[in-house]
Amino acid sequence: MTDHLTVVDHPLVAHKLTVMREKDTSTASFRQLLREISLLLAYEITRDLPVTTKRIETPMCPMDAPTIEGKKLALISILRAGNGLLDGILELIPAARVGFVGLYRDEETLEPVEYYFKVPTHLEDRLTIAVDPMLATGNSSVAAVQKLKDAGAKDIRFLCLLASPEGVQRMKEAHPDVPIVTAALDSHLNEKGYIVPGLGDAGDRMFGTK
Ligand code: URA
Repeated sequence: MTDHLTVVDHPLVAHKLTVMREKDTSTASFRQLLREISLLLAYEITRDLPVTTKRIETPMCPMDAPTIEGKKLALISILRAGNGLLDGILELIPAARVGFVGLYRDEETLEPVEYYFKVPTHLEDRLTIAVDPMLATGNSSVAAVQKLKDAGAKDIRFLCLLASPEGVQRMKEAHPDVPIVTAALDSHLNEKGYIVPGLGDAGDRMFGTK
């Protein structure tokens, strides 16, 4: 994957995202749509995975059939909203290894502080896909990616639903080697760090909290 930012251009993605943005969309619909859209985004972010062949036997004859090369992927959910994207992707890639990074923002320093970190072994040999629906200020995403690098990950991609120009820029400066795949690039951040037009708080909308 060579582009730093890929905005997935597909009518199904665009349509589903529009319904998710609408403020009156129910929690159940939001969750279902997030699941569906995550399959389409996962399809896109894995499009260039290296493939090799292996010898198999069909009921008809032997053949050299394509199979994904290398160690199993690592999917890393950035808590808590990352879990909404993770569930869908796991339907498509059920053998992936899964990790979690939990960060909260210190109210005084405004810096991200880690409260949970558990990732698969041998990250250095895996394609590592970090997932978080909203790339807003980029502070927690940048910190989470740094933690993954500190744990050995060398080939990292970042998957989100919505990105802000500010967040993309921040990631590009901090981690130019980490390609971003998103369903849409929105206009800007507001003074509270929310993406505009956005969809509100992704975690609240998928979990029905306020
Ligand atoms: N996190 C969200 O859930 N929504 C935003 O708009 C920004 C960050």
